This record gives sequence, structure tokens and C-alpha cells, in this order.
Amino acid sequence: MLAYLTAINRLRIVKIQDVKEENSTVKTFTFRDKHCAKAKPGQFVMVWIPGVDEIPMSLSSMGTDGVSSITVAEVGEATKALHKKKVGEVLGIRGPYGNGFALTKGNVMIVGGGTGLTPLMPLAESLVRLSAKIVFMVGAKTRNDLFFLDRIGTVVSEVAATTEDGSYGLKGFVTELAEQILEKQRFDKIYACGPEPMMFKMFLSSELHNTPFQASLERYIRCGIGICGSCCMDEYRICRDGPVFSGEQLRKARHEFGLFKREVDGNKVSF
Ligand SMILES: Cc1cc2nc3c(=O)[nH]c(=O)nc-3n(C[C@H](O)[C@H](O)[C@H](O)COP(=O)(O)OP(=O)(O)OC[C@H]3O[C@@H](n4cnc5c(N)ncnc54)[C@H](O)[C@@H]3O)c2cc1C
Ligand code: FES
Repeated sequence: MLAYLTAINRLRIVKIQDVKEENSTVKTFTFRDKHCAKAKPGQFVMVWIPGVDEIPMSLSSMGTDGVSSITVAEVGEATKALHKKKVGEVLGIRGPYGNGFALTKGNVMIVGGGTGLTPLMPLAESLVRLSAKIVFMVGAKTRNDLFFLDRIGTVVSEVAATTEDGSYGLKGFVTELAEQILEKQRFDKIYACGPEPMMFKMFLSSELHNTPFQASLERYIRCGIGICGSCCMDEYRICRDGPVFSGEQLRKARHEFGLFKREVDGNKVSF
């Protein structure tokens, strides 16, 4: 165990093997790393962009061939620098960190918003191998913000998309469509990842329909290993206790989950 922890905490330099443009703001970077290849869906890595910053990213694939990927939205300095990287250039990787999703058989609903889709894709691929029956729901602001639709289509047969402007799928919020489906159909588990207000609504739906729930949360992550405290949410540290939390845990985090997050300076701000 100690040898494993020492190995994953060591920064490994990896070469980018492929760069795929998913849409105008999201790219997937593929690299080879033996520890990431064995990661669980929902685990994340700390990605060092030399000379810029180190940032947390969920793994969007982990292949048996040793090849893994991260799927990155360009939002600020570090992700902008990452988006400029080409095949053959290098990144630093620590991890994989965090707990990952608990896999469930039976009828499963997966709800993803924006780049929240990233950890849900390998989750769906693992659930399919367990013969789970999946309803996969994706939501975005517009058609241009959606990605992974082809990949989802190759894995599950029931896919429903919503966009806020109606440019693709049903017009509205993915949480509204999910709630309509939950009123008619019973699920063994709901998985969610996306903007926290979206996950909070799915948490409330799971409580209403008495359905087990797991969501992968985002906070500012600096150390990634439970030391610095920048990722606190109530009694939890997202990097150490999550990033995946059950409905039961989220009930205990009721003073902060869906209500407040911490800014880079540690100040609490409302969503
Ligand atoms: C466990 C985990 C997994 C993640 N997985 C992915 C992923 O798969 N793909 C992806 O694109 N992004 C993911 N993120 C978010 C990603 O880490 C941030 O977008 C990135 O750190 C932003 O760095 P930046 O320097 O480009 O932007 P910054 O200049 O730091 O910030 C730009 C904007 O993004 C906001 N922001 C930055 N970091 C966060 C955060 N952690 N939570 C909420 N808002 C933030 C800032 O408030 C600001 O408005 C993940 C975050 C966590 C905690
Ligand atoms: S990022 Fe440092 S404690 Fe979680």
C-alpha cells in the first residue's frame, strides 16, 4: 500500500499521444500512464502544465492498453495553456486520486451537465460491462456545448439530451426531464456530475423518489491529498473523501452542498 501511494504521488512526465477537439471549447488529451490505466471511473488526476499551474481533471478514459485521457474545457489560464499543447509535448501527472463511483447493477440513470460528462463516460462503459440498463441524460446550454454524443451512443441505447436554447434535443434543463422520467420509472441508482446547482436538484429528486444517489463534486483542489483544506465542504474534503459522494453524505453536507463554494482565497460565496 505504501509503495502504491508513493508511486501515485510521484509526478510522472507523460507525452501527449493524441489531441481530439470535442467542440469549440473542449479537447481530449490522450497519454500513457500505468497508474491511470488502472483507475476507477470518477477518480481524478493532478495535471501539471509546465510553467503555468497544476489543476485537477477527471479521467475521461482509462484503457486496458495503458492509454488514458482527460477531457478539458478551456476556462482560464491553465486550461488555455493546456489547450495549446500538441501531440508529442509533455504534461506532469499525479494520482489517480479520490474514491470513484461505486458500480451498481440494475436500472441506472446517469445525468451529466457540461464537462461533468467527463467521469460519467467511463462510468457508463463500466456499468454496461455489468449489464446495467442505463438511461443517459445530458444537458448543455446550446448544441455547440455538447460533446461525447457519439461515444455515449456506442455504449447505451437510451440517450436523452436537453439544451437551454432548444438547439438540440428537448428545450430546458436536464434536471426537469430527469424528474419527469423519475415520476414514471423506478431506478436502482442515479449518478450525476455537472454544475453543483444541477447536482443539488438531482439530489433533491433522488430524495423525493427514495433512490440511491452518487454525485462527483468540484471544489478548488490544490494539494489533492487532503492536506491544504482548500477543497472543504462542511465536514468533507472533496479530494480526500470524494470527489464522489453518496446521497447520505450529501445530507450531512447540507450547510454547503448546493449553496456555497469557496473562492481561490478561501472565502465562501453562494452559487
Ligand atoms: C475533482 C475535479 C475534477 C475535474 N474534472 C474536470 C474535467 O474533467 N474537465 C474539466 O474541464 N474541468 C474539470 N475540473 C475543473 C478544472 O479543474 C478547472 O476548470 C481548472 O482548474 C481551471 O483552471 P484555469 O487556470 O484554466 O482556470 P481559473 O483561472 O483557475 O478559473 C477560471 C474560472 O473557472 C472557475 N473554476 C476554476 N476551478 C474551478 C473548480 N474546481 N470548480 C469550480 N469552478 C472553478 C473559476 O472560478 C473561474 O471562474 C475538475 C475539477 C475538480 C475539482
Ligand atoms: S485540495 Fe488540499 S485538502 Fe483537498
